[in-house]
Amino acid sequence: MDIRFQVGGPAQWRADAVIVFLFEGEALSDGAPELLEAAPWLGIAPAVRDFRGRKDEVAVFHGHPDLAVPRVIAAGLGKREAFAATAPAGLRAAAGAALRRCRELKIETVSIDAVALARVTATEGGTQAWSPFEEAVCGALLGLYRYDRFKTNGNGNGENGGEDARFEPRWLALLCAEASVPDDLHAAARRGEAAAAGVALARDLVNGPPNFVTPGHLAGQAEAIARKYGMRVRSLGRAELVEMGMGAFASVFRGAEEEPRLVVIEHAPKGTEDQTPLVFVGKGITFDTGGISLKPAAKMHEMKGDMAGAAAILGLFEALGRSDVPRRVVGVMPCTENMPDGRATRPGDIVTTLSGKTVEIINTDAEGRLVLCDALTWAQREYAPEVVVDLATLTGACVVALGTDVAAVFANDDALSGRIRAVGDVVGDRFWPLPLWDMFFENLKSDVADMANVGPREGGAVNAALFLKQFVDKGVRWAHLDIAGPAYTAKKTSTCPGGGTGFAVRTLLELARGGV
Ligand code: BES
Ligand code: MN
Ligand code: ZN
Repeated sequence: MDIRFQVGGPAQWRADAVIVFLFEGEALSDGAPELLEAAPWLGIAPAVRDFRGRKDEVAVFHGHPDLAVPRVIAAGLGKREAFAATAPAGLRAAAGAALRRCRELKIETVSIDAVALARVTATEGGTQAWSPFEEAVCGALLGLYRYDRFKTNGNGNGENGGEDARFEPRWLALLCAEASVPDDLHAAARRGEAAAAGVALARDLVNGPPNFVTPGHLAGQAEAIARKYGMRVRSLGRAELVEMGMGAFASVFRGAEEEPRLVVIEHAPKGTEDQTPLVFVGKGITFDTGGISLKPAAKMHEMKGDMAGAAAILGLFEALGRSDVPRRVVGVMPCTENMPDGRATRPGDIVTTLSGKTVEIINTDAEGRLVLCDALTWAQREYAPEVVVDLATLTGACVVALGTDVAAVFANDDALSGRIRAVGDVVGDRFWPLPLWDMFFENLKSDVADMANVGPREGGAVNAALFLKQFVDKGVRWAHLDIAGPAYTAKKTSTCPGGGTGFAVRTLLELARGGV
């Protein structure tokens, strides 16, 4: 669905449907007087009286089909006071719900009353940390998100079933009162579009089956993004990784037939090539069986999502390609399957990491930290960054600690941790801090190597973070995001149909955009 604009005020507005967001108890004449001008019939439409403006409420009002605005879709935002507390999320949800209704009704051309939308944030006062246009556009696009790549068309599959199961509105226009599109409105809409495209790509990669989304596929995606937007990209294969001395990463891909990759992508627009880059490192296990420490069968298929960290980075670069962010950003993604095999790593094996430190592998299912530690070492040697943020579906223990909707943030720098939490709150990625106290490293003591790859179950998410901390150089500001809970969800909402969520894409984008 294209995002467009219509200018010139209510008399010029034309679309099969206009969406308007209203608070509970708010009259159309207060919340959207311009819309009453564009569609005067609303003033006497009896159905309007039944609309309450409740959260999650969506109502469709019909005028004569020949009118310039023949249909109005009202989406409720709930009570003004309650809305203010969770505003961006409420607006995204309402926009997603409205666009889904348009899709169900097979409406071709849709628009949003942007004049009324600007009033939505009026209650907040002070400086506004977010744009209602950006969030409405992003929510609208994500509301339409679905993964239907492997659904054959026309045989009753898909949400609506039947031949037109793939219908979606052709365009969504933002309706302005001005003679030309205001710059801030235009920029905000484009930001919402870029963010949604990044989130959608990350979701596609997590939803994709593991026989399709292989390390080679992730490398191909990075190459496609780099080609489209003129970025640099590299991908190193098995022989080079072994040759380089990535013994920890190699211990994970030993058992895999599928070729592993270290995928590296770089955004460095003109004039930023010499900047010290912001580096993101993402876990890219395209399928985690646990290896010789095999996982139980129940829910094992969900481990196709164990590359959600890498997927979020690719989503970020898709969004960066569509944005104008004057900062050098590098993404590093160690990608492989974790498979049991005659050549696979045994519990008890000792490997030498790229850093030179040795690790006793007690449990081959704690593979994420093994691929990440070598990627972290490599990234710091290669780019000498001041800030590194890694993200990974790292531990089940993190899900036990914080639940399925919240990611943990571990950082050696309070400002970085605070910044991640603050931007995450706005874009809808929830992070909560867990400690990085060195006493937890005691848990990883090994009798025969420098450290073990697992400790006791208790404090499992912190133990994993302490393992990674051993590979962070002095002076580097570092954060580790354990996204095991929120990267994949069973819950269906109006902006996500379940499965991959695209968690952290927008947070990374905000860090790149606004600094760390
Ligand atoms: N990929 C898993 C963690 C995971 C679990 C992600 C559930 C998403 C949902 C990771 O590789 C893993 O297996 N971790 C082990 C570590 C343990 C062996 C110390 C775990 O959490 O059980
Ligand atoms: Mn594992
Ligand atoms: Zn894993």
